[in-house]
Amino acid sequence: MAEYTLVVDKTGDVRMSPADKYERYRTVREQIEAVLEGERDLLAGMTTIVCLLHNAFPYYFWTGFYRRVSADELLVGPYQGTMGCLRIRFDRGVCGACATERRTILVPDVNAFPGHIACDSASASEIVVPVFDAAGELVAVLDVDSTELAAFNDTDREHLEAIVALLRGLESLPVVATA
Ligand code: SME
Repeated sequence: MAEYTLVVDKTGDVRMSPADKYERYRTVREQIEAVLEGERDLLAGMTTIVCLLHNAFPYYFWTGFYRRVSADELLVGPYQGTMGCLRIRFDRGVCGACATERRTILVPDVNAFPGHIACDSASASEIVVPVFDAAGELVAVLDVDSTELAAFNDTDREHLEAIVALLRGLESLPVVATA
């Protein structure tokens, strides 16, 4: 599996040209599709997506899922980056806005977003994408933060929405006790 993990350098200039960004998403999306082919477990799917995305893009500083655990609360799921907040209510932050409005939210400057939750003050911009199950229920959001202002655009939106759609139909498989 190691051949799948493209690990980029995140030091120095982390920006990508529009053409490089588009091409990188195309490659990573194909890798994620190949790795998840036939997999049924939602946690394995989320974890794989976070790993492959986070390592492939230099401007990704924090990459992770928040899962919907009640009518109005999200709980942190698989992520890479610095320590994330554990619980986010639907009325808080960009993740909460995404969960409430059930649409992708692009924030070019987090300091200009009312109610933004600063888990790490290094975050400057972010994109949050809703994740739906096969019945159209919101099950999670994918949150990606960058230390660059306005790091995300419609290329990120288009590809990330397609990537999280790969989770549709996956379910949390129970841990099976053997004793
Ligand atoms: N950016 C989020 C909070 C989560 S962290 O940044 C990991 C928000 O305002 O919803």
